[in-house]
Amino acid sequence: MIIELSLMNKEQREQVIAKAAEQIRNGEVVAFPTETVYGLGANGLDVSAVRKVFAIKRRPLDNPVILHVSEPDAVKDICRDIPLEAWDLMERFWPGPLTLLLPKKDVVPDEVTAGSSLVAVRCPDSEVARALIREAKVPIAAPSANRSGRPSPTRAMHVNEDLGDEVTMILDDGPTGIGLESTVLDLSMSPPMILRPGGLSREDLEQVLGVVNLAPGLIDMEAAPPAPGMKYTHYAPEAHLVLYEDLYPFEAMRNRITEEHEKGNSVGVLCFADQAEFFSIADIVLTYTDLIELAQNLFANLRIFDEKKVDVILVAGVSESDIGLAIMNRLRKAASELR
Ligand code: TXA
Ligand code: MG
Repeated sequence: MIIELSLMNKEQREQVIAKAAEQIRNGEVVAFPTETVYGLGANGLDVSAVRKVFAIKRRPLDNPVILHVSEPDAVKDICRDIPLEAWDLMERFWPGPLTLLLPKKDVVPDEVTAGSSLVAVRCPDSEVARALIREAKVPIAAPSANRSGRPSPTRAMHVNEDLGDEVTMILDDGPTGIGLESTVLDLSMSPPMILRPGGLSREDLEQVLGVVNLAPGLIDMEAAPPAPGMKYTHYAPEAHLVLYEDLYPFEAMRNRITEEHEKGNSVGVLCFADQAEFFSIADIVLTYTDLIELAQNLFANLRIFDEKKVDVILVAGVSESDIGLAIMNRLRKAASELR
């Protein structure tokens, strides 16, 4: 059931969050907002609760989950040998879209880390999420609250579409601000390495850390997957998505629309608002005015194309600086064809 927090006063919100926290403490599963995407949360120190999350998502057990904390200090309870640079990063970027891999303490079940000695931790920049974690008094294990293989949910409605039958509480705090998942950073090597680009940019990390590498699998799609979860085809829409990596693909895109129409296929286009007119022969045109908005609505737009049952989706690539790196990573994973 979706519970709309925005329609409530402070007291009502607190009551709902207290109830959700109680569910978490009782080993149940609750969907909640973060600034990146909605999460499917359970007590991260309770093996059977964590197993429920995997079962509901139909998530493979070898794909570890992130533990969410309400403040940096809580990391001491679940991690050991925390390097100084981790504290620097937490001070600078938490709460926020940065997930750190740190050596785990024994209290963290192997199910959370899929057997790894490193655990992923993050403090989300959402008052609802942090209040929930604080009240639950345990770190909350939470993957994105989509069914495995579907785009991550950026609205409570998306969680309901994918998992509504199995999740009793979906806390709705409106659309998420960032729209792409957190950046996952491995600090166990030098220089540190980004395993998944996300809401916090490489440029921002480099201001604190100096050089930050990108995992080889992010650049060479044939190399080993950087994070365990990234070997699975995530975010894939049902349509055939064509991603143009060329700088000026617009003529080619318009020709492709005509070709697909001749084959009897319907076509969706995702483009800058001022190109909408140029692509008006397409069946659906979804637009954005800047990369922040593209990121915010990317997963929602993929879901819209699926609902409308377009056969082919055409997307022009964007520059890979700042949030563009994460956008292109998600688009490549969603693509059936690179041009
Ligand atoms: O923004 C986010 O990170 C959202 C919100 C809910 O916090 N969560 C999220 O979780 O995206 P999930 O499970 O969908 O993605 C977590 C990623 C996966 O690629 C997983 O393989 C990687 O982080 N990961 C988690 N724990 C890890 C570990 N111990 N070692 C290496 N990679 C890990
Ligand atoms: Mg996910």
